[in-house]
Amino acid sequence: MGNETEEAERAKQGTGRVISSSGIALRRGRIELLGSGSKELQDSDSLAEEPRRDKGGQNWITRDKDKFKFPGGGTQFIHGAKQYLNQISEMVPNIAFGSHTRVVLDVGCGVASFGAYLFSKNAITMSIAPKDVHENQIQFALERGVPAMAAVFATRRLLYPSQAFDLIHCSRCRINWTRDEWEFLNSLGSATLISFLKCDEDGILLLEVNRMLRAGGYFAWAAQPVYKHEEAQQEAWKEMEDLTTHICWELVKKEGYIAIWRKPLNNTCYIIRDAAVKPPLCNPDDDPDSVWYANLKACITRLPENGFGSNVPTWPARLHVPPQRLENVLMDANIAKNELFKAETAFWDEVVGSYVNAFHWKKMNLRNVMDMRAGFGGFAAAMIDNQLDSWVMNVVPTSGPNTLPLIYDRGLIGVAHDWCEPFDTYPRTYDLLHAFGLFSTEQKRCNITSILLEMDRILRPGGRVYIRDSKYIVDEIQTITVAMGWRSDQHDTSEGPYASRRILICQK
Ligand SMILES: C[S@@+](CC[C@H](N)C(=O)[O-])C[C@H]1O[C@@H](n2cnc3c(N)ncnc32)[C@H](O)[C@@H]1O
Repeated sequence: MGNETEEAERAKQGTGRVISSSGIALRRGRIELLGSGSKELQDSDSLAEEPRRDKGGQNWITRDKDKFKFPGGGTQFIHGAKQYLNQISEMVPNIAFGSHTRVVLDVGCGVASFGAYLFSKNAITMSIAPKDVHENQIQFALERGVPAMAAVFATRRLLYPSQAFDLIHCSRCRINWTRDEWEFLNSLGSATLISFLKCDEDGILLLEVNRMLRAGGYFAWAAQPVYKHEEAQQEAWKEMEDLTTHICWELVKKEGYIAIWRKPLNNTCYIIRDAAVKPPLCNPDDDPDSVWYANLKACITRLPENGFGSNVPTWPARLHVPPQRLENVLMDANIAKNELFKAETAFWDEVVGSYVNAFHWKKMNLRNVMDMRAGFGGFAAAMIDNQLDSWVMNVVPTSGPNTLPLIYDRGLIGVAHDWCEPFDTYPRTYDLLHAFGLFSTEQKRCNITSILLEMDRILRPGGRVYIRDSKYIVDEIQTITVAMGWRSDQHDTSEGPYASRRILICQK
């Protein structure tokens, strides 16, 4: 990978929808070096074969000589995501993709055609799926240049904050939204079951959707219970109707095979419910933004009484307005947080502007970009302001202040992560990794070599790394990057040679 033709093709994603399969061929080349029989070899082989075998009839992906093409189909939208999105927009015009609805979660995304087409409507989608019978779907999504992560609705909270998404979508995502904990434990076996017989936790997975959905946000569900008349499907629909009513969602529209609900704007409906109605409200001391290794909770996340999160400006204005949830961020700041926010914005505008001019970022075809320590999201905002044809995964390390809700309020996407652990993505999926002050912070917690090896894993061949950090650590980092076979050069920051920070620019 890495030649300009291929990168240009990938950058076309969202409109062009064509990628070369040579990235995969190259992986095979690399895998051969690893030796046959490796797990990676098996995965890669099935990657090439699986789409034709399993999803051929649903128009997910086709193969044309050495190219994979993504015609935009899905299990529930074989005629294409474009038509499907138009249908959703016509059903509920207030969804208004690209203005009112900016940040979307696609649960069980397949090859992420839904998110790919939403790009052209100025909405950004976090597409998620596990590695299951559908094989490396997230790897395909990222090869297309569409934001995606490996993630699953199971027993733990997803790594996104409360009120993150303006719309959450599931089309045939194979999740039993009304599942209760009893049913789940039963599936694990009777020994576990005995100790939990008193569980009464209906709809725990939909309650997780509810936590992540913005006040007034929409849930779009395309699935058989919406339109099929068999008894089992009708029963499933009735259960969904009951649960959504209990959690105060309004069924805004049901048409064909799509149903769309809206979450309330405040707690009023929850408070006037009969006290016996389940599921209960979460305890007031539950922090809905605490997600790292947090178990799912079968309760309704309360909305903030001050209305924070429910009234974000429309896109694109929301990118530059200091979000209200800034007030909740715990940090030792001597100056007002709004001032800090503005200073961060100005800083990144200058830095990214200088990268674009001095290092010709517009010519590098940087599509899948990660900010490994995202702060308020100023780097990603500056990438948009500089009109780079990229998207940024804003990673907020669990070791620092939780700024993730602000990132979503600005209309950006991101995830909580502990850099002492691996990141939930496939190998060779990012074009650029940006790390500002990451190593000087994390060196107190874990070995910096492991962080650099993880960066090497997720960076595509030829991919770039920009590290801005204390000059006392940059030499040590450079020695490790050289040992990993990266090309690397140190540069002064705009503050000159005597400044406390240096920039290390590397290429894998
Ligand atoms: C039938 S495919 C539908 C794909 C896509 N939504 C479409 O309409 O083409 C089911 C999808 O749900 C995902 N999935 C199944 N169980 C899941 C879970 N517990 N959490 C997240 N995704 C899940 C699968 O990996 C797959 O992406």
